[in-house]
Amino acid sequence: MDLTLLAGSANPPLAQAVALALGQQLGAMVVHRFPDGELHIEIGESVRDHDVYLIQPTSPPVGEHLLELMLVVDACRRAGASRVTAVIPYFGYARQDRRATGREPVSARLVADLLQTCGLDRLVTVDLHTSSIEGFFAIPLEHLSAVSLLTETVRSVVDSSSVVVSPDLGAVKLAERYAARLGLPVAIVNKTRLSGEEVRAERVIGDVRDRAPLVIDDMISTGGTIEAAGQALLAAGARPEITVVTTHALLVGPAVERLSALPLRRLIATDSVVLQVEPTFPIEVAGLGPLLAEAIDRLSQGLSLGNLVAHG
Ligand code: R5P
Repeated sequence: MDLTLLAGSANPPLAQAVALALGQQLGAMVVHRFPDGELHIEIGESVRDHDVYLIQPTSPPVGEHLLELMLVVDACRRAGASRVTAVIPYFGYARQDRRATGREPVSARLVADLLQTCGLDRLVTVDLHTSSIEGFFAIPLEHLSAVSLLTETVRSVVDSSSVVVSPDLGAVKLAERYAARLGLPVAIVNKTRLSGEEVRAERVIGDVRDRAPLVIDDMISTGGTIEAAGQALLAAGARPEITVVTTHALLVGPAVERLSALPLRRLIATDSVVLQVEPTFPIEVAGLGPLLAEAIDRLSQGLSLGNLVAHG
């Protein structure tokens, strides 16, 4: 089956990197907006009987990028594509996977239903906020991991005096995976979320005194979690040399300001999301292009994804 690679408007540089790694051109596609704000998609070449891979993280503005993704999938289906795979390195709405208080939607489940309704055959994503999202889909969801990639990037900045820190209970498993690879101990910050933007760090569990913290999270949104964790670590005697590692650096709202207020050695992140702001602290980006290209190559040939897949 011929392979067609399409780039939505959410992350063209990442789509280019995937195309480069695959040695393939991006397919022609125009995303245009009518004066009333409606999106209009036009695929500029035949995809009939093709194996189509659409690269589109559902990063902010989440609703816009999600709708665009669904419209492209619909266009591919109607144009006779044999199979359509959405490559969604950052999966928006993943944090709303359950009802926390009461009269709320299970938004991640609805997003999964919408994606399936528009005719998607399969999706590929990276470091989902929670792997329970997979259960919302009846189609295959290939959950890749950026942990190996990020661990190799981080290796040069850690030594035996470092400590891997989970900034909340939800990221403990992820932190443990980094710690096992780096041969470092783990500490945990007990966090309470007060609102979408505000969190409170209650206490630090584990020994961080005189250690350089390596704070791990799957995503940074407003930076509230990292700010609170950083302050709690400093109060617990950690060295003022904090390294932060995340797969998805959304950095919205006050994130840059909050992270800048910490003694941050550097932020290490993937390029799953296009940075919308100019960070005032050192940032190192580990490109997902080769990982996604390898996954697309194997999937297009019907091969196992093996070690590319996240477990647990
Ligand atoms: C927790 O639910 C997540 O792993 C992140 O810690 C959180 O969503 C990040 O959001 P913010 O940066 O706004 O605290």
